[in-house]
Amino acid sequence: MWTPPERIRHPLPETRWPTVEVAAASRLFSPVALGPVTALRRTFVPAMVPWRATEDGAVTAEVLDWYARFAAGRPGVIVVEATGIRDVASGPLLRIGDDRFLPGLARLVDVVRAASGGETRLFIQLIDFLAIRRRPEREKFLARHLAITAAHRAAVELDAAAPEDEVRAALARLDEPQLRAAFTPRECEALERGARERVTDLHLAHVRALPMVLPRRFADAADRARRVGFDGVELHYAHAYTMASFLSAQNDRDDGYGGSREARVRLPLEVACAVRERVGAAFAVGARLLGDEIIDGGSRVADAEHYAVALARTGLDYLSFSTGGKFEDAAQPKVGEAVYPYTGRSGYECMPTVRSDARGPFARQVSTVAAVRRAVRGAGFATPIVVAGGIGTFEEAEGILARGDADLVGMARQSLADPDWSEKVRLGRGDEVRRCHYTNYCEALDQRHRQVTCKLWDHVDVTLPGVPLDPTGRRRLVAPLWRR
Ligand SMILES: Cc1cc2nc3c(=O)[nH]c(=O)nc-3n(C[C@H](O)[C@H](O)[C@H](O)COP(=O)(O)O)c2cc1C
Ligand code: SF4
Repeated sequence: MWTPPERIRHPLPETRWPTVEVAAASRLFSPVALGPVTALRRTFVPAMVPWRATEDGAVTAEVLDWYARFAAGRPGVIVVEATGIRDVASGPLLRIGDDRFLPGLARLVDVVRAASGGETRLFIQLIDFLAIRRRPEREKFLARHLAITAAHRAAVELDAAAPEDEVRAALARLDEPQLRAAFTPRECEALERGARERVTDLHLAHVRALPMVLPRRFADAADRARRVGFDGVELHYAHAYTMASFLSAQNDRDDGYGGSREARVRLPLEVACAVRERVGAAFAVGARLLGDEIIDGGSRVADAEHYAVALARTGLDYLSFSTGGKFEDAAQPKVGEAVYPYTGRSGYECMPTVRSDARGPFARQVSTVAAVRRAVRGAGFATPIVVAGGIGTFEEAEGILARGDADLVGMARQSLADPDWSEKVRLGRGDEVRRCHYTNYCEALDQRHRQVTCKLWDHVDVTLPGVPLDPTGRRRLVAPLWRR
């Protein structure tokens, strides 16, 4: 992962945990209405992909264990990982693009209700993404994947009559600078990083048609979530995926869905409206978006303010914020691997580590989110706002709420490090919290598509009977139980 050049190592902030009385009187442990749904407390577990679904995207026993473990800590809200809305294969990522996924998802709802004693509200994050290929071997790319054009023929001085194989063989003899000169930027990208579709690829019929098909796909998926008993859905408008790409300042589609801010937010608004129309007012609909894309030429906080106000106006029940996590500045993947959107600077800003710049990783995204919240409030909307990013102590969380910087506090890695954070702190036992080190061992597992665990507990008591382990038999898959 990219690290700020200063590489300053920040210790975890010293903190004091509240007594049970102080916790009971705090904002963090007070309820908040998310449209039709009331969260009993403002502790929020944002979506985290754990790589535990079947290859077909179905819920497994390991998925159930993972969410039951978070639910045992009784946070106000858990958002289930990014879940694909299409009915296409996408590896061991959860899917909700067809009714056949519903029995598994219904079980997931049941286990979370049971494990949290009905105290945790459960949302599911709905995602759409475009095709991305792994970085190819040079020989294979030149022999098979590359579509031969007149420019390639010209580069190797062969005319239109020359057989394609001859052109490919001549290209293969070029050195890297010569090949780069012969290729378009997209062809270079396909060779060096793996081909990646963009929402601006209007020459592709299925990409041009996205505004026609996505509102219905999201609405169908949201309705499935409603039918199996989730409390709500979170529309994934953040990071590197389709909807965030529509919002990006880099989106210059010329069909009314790109260019100006108003045009860029048009499809996200149409999706939000289609979802609401389908699920009705009694089901919560929120969205996660970026406060700042971080990449060059990307959307900044002023764009996020515009989008947030527009989405609040459609009646979304909450808005959750993240930062960065883009393909554009990601590191070059190894041959055979796909580019991972959390390896560049924008990835760092999404999941900052303790090796940082002078600002440090803690609560790093709060000032941006506070600005967006002010814009939403200024426009007359009371939509609850969720912040996340390097927040792990009660003092930070309570301070954010007290200042009015946000309305709920997301803790992703801290909840992974200690799924009982919310209960321990609420019961005045904060000194028992296992604090996240923010060194991203978990994120490295995610990058390699391996089952995500935390370094603070995945080697604890692995020989005890009944502890679920990863395929190597060396890592436990859920945190040990907290003995109250
Ligand atoms: C393993 C892992 C998987 C993640 N998966 C998702 C995801 O599916 N959807 C999403 O919006 N964010 C995802 N994130 C980002 C987190 O939700 C969160 O925004 C980020 O980790 C920063 O918050 P934190 O500092 O509290 O961890 C993931 C983070 C981690 C560590
Ligand atoms: S692996 Fe590291 S960064 Fe991830 S949750 Fe555990 S302590 Fe935090």
